[in-house]
Amino acid sequence: MTSQILRDARKYEVEMERKIAGEHRPAFHLSARVGWMNDPNGFSFYKGEYHLFYQYHPYSTCWGPMHWGHAVSRDLLHWEHLPAALAPDMDYDRDGCFSGSAVVLPDGRHLLMYTGVSREAQPDGSMKDVQTQCLAVGDGVDYEKYAGNPVLDKGALPEGGSKYDFRDPKLWRKQDGSYLCVAGNCTDSHDGQILLYSSPDGFRWKYGKILAANCERFGKMWECPDFFSLDGKQVLLTSPQDMMPQGFEYHNGNGTLCLIGSYDEATDTFAEEGNQSIDYGIDFYAPQTVLAPDGRRIMIGWMQNWDTCNLHAPERQSWFGQMSLPRELSVQNGRLFQRPVRELEAMRGQEVKYENIAFTDIIKLNGIQGRKLDMELTIRPEDEQNIYRKFAVRFAQNDKYQTSVSYRPYESVIKVDRKHSGSRRAIIHQRRCLVKSEKGPGEIKIRIILDNYSAEVFVNDGEYVLSLTFYTDLSAEGISFFADGRQGAL
Ligand code: FRU
Repeated sequence: MTSQILRDARKYEVEMERKIAGEHRPAFHLSARVGWMNDPNGFSFYKGEYHLFYQYHPYSTCWGPMHWGHAVSRDLLHWEHLPAALAPDMDYDRDGCFSGSAVVLPDGRHLLMYTGVSREAQPDGSMKDVQTQCLAVGDGVDYEKYAGNPVLDKGALPEGGSKYDFRDPKLWRKQDGSYLCVAGNCTDSHDGQILLYSSPDGFRWKYGKILAANCERFGKMWECPDFFSLDGKQVLLTSPQDMMPQGFEYHNGNGTLCLIGSYDEATDTFAEEGNQSIDYGIDFYAPQTVLAPDGRRIMIGWMQNWDTCNLHAPERQSWFGQMSLPRELSVQNGRLFQRPVRELEAMRGQEVKYENIAFTDIIKLNGIQGRKLDMELTIRPEDEQNIYRKFAVRFAQNDKYQTSVSYRPYESVIKVDRKHSGSRRAIIHQRRCLVKSEKGPGEIKIRIILDNYSAEVFVNDGEYVLSLTFYTDLSAEGISFFADGRQGAL
C-alpha cells in the first residue's frame, strides 16, 4: 500500500521529468530525476540489476523533506529511473527518510534499512530531529514499511550516544546467514563514533558495541559508514562533518575518511592501521559500496560538496545533484585505490591516440576535445636530468573558460582548478593533492573522465582521485596541454 505522500511524489516526478526533458545532464553519471539529490543509498544487486537509491527532494533543487529516489542499471553507467521508493509518510519518519542501505533476503525480497527522522519539541520550545533506524521490504519497485518500525531507537545507544545524531545504517548479510549493521552516531559532546548492531534475520536488531571512535581526531559527527573486508584488510569508510585540514588531507569541511586496519570477527574488534581521505577533489561525500556478484567492491559517492550545494543557479536547472562514477576498490600497500568500473571501457567511442609527443608551452591535439571523454595520459620528462616544472591539461575550454589539472613534479603536487569555469561565487575552486608515488622522476599517470559537468581525475592507477563539478556552458569543449619545461606526453 503506497501512501498519498508517495503517490504525490511519484506523480510529480513523472510530470516534471517531461517538462525538463531537454535539460542537459551528465550522460553516464546518475543525476536527480527531478529536484534535489544527495547521498547514494541502498546500493545493491537485486534481480539481475544494480539498484541505487538516493536522498531525494523532488519538489525543489534544495534539500527538503527526504524521500528515496530510485534507479536501476545493468552496467552501472546507463541508469533508468524508477518511481520514488520511500516518502516521509509515517510518524517515525515524518520529517525525512534519511540515508541507509539494502540487502537481499533469502526469500527473495529486498530489504531497505534507513533512518527515520521525526522532530521533537525541546523544553525551550525549539525543535530537534530524533533519529531512529527503520525497515522497508519490497520487490524492487514498491516497498512496504515494516510494522515493527523503528527497529533501533535511543534504547539501542551506548551511554552518552546522542539520539539526535544516530543515522545512516549500512547492513550486510554474514556468511552464517545473520546480519550486521554499522550506523553513525556521536557523543553528547559531538564526537563521532560508529556503532555495530546484529540481527539473526534482518528484522530483530540489537546493539553490539562501539566499533570505532573518533576521539576528536577527524571532524565531529561521523555520517554514512560502510565496513567491509578487502584484499586481506578491513576498511571503514565514513564521512565526518566539520573536518579540519591535516596537511594535504581532509580539506573538504564535511569530508571523507577511510580507515584501513584489521578485524577480529570473533570479538568484533577493528584495529586501525592507517587513515586517508577517500577523494582529494572538491566534490565527493557520503560514498557507499556494493559487493558485485563477481566479487568486486564498488563504491559510488555523492559528487557534490555540502558547502557549495546551495550556490548553484536554480534558474538554470530543474535538477541538482549527481553521483560519482562507480569505482572498483582495492587495497594496495595499505592504501585505498579506486579505478573507474571496467564497464566504462565498453562505452568508449572512437580512440584517438598520440605517442611520444614532446612539447613546451601550449599544444592542442587534433581529435582531442569534448565534454564526455575518458583520457589517459602518461607524462614524463624528455630529459630525466632536467625535469619540466609544470604540466597542465585544460578542458571545458574556450576563449573565456577553462578548468584544469596540473602537476608540479618538484613539489609532487597535483592540482585541480575550476576558478575560470564560469562560477560567479567566491567558493573554493582549487584543491591540491600530494602524490607520493611518482613512477619515475617527473613521471605520472593521469586518467581524466569528463561527463558534461564533472571531472574525475585518477592518479597513478587510482592511488589518488580528485573529483569536481563545474557548470561551464557545454559549448566550451576545448582541450589543451601545457608544459613549462620540456616533456613528453604519451
Ligand atoms: C549526509 C547526510 C546523512 C543523512 C542525509 C540526509 O550527507 O547528512 O547523514 O542521512 O545526509 O539527507
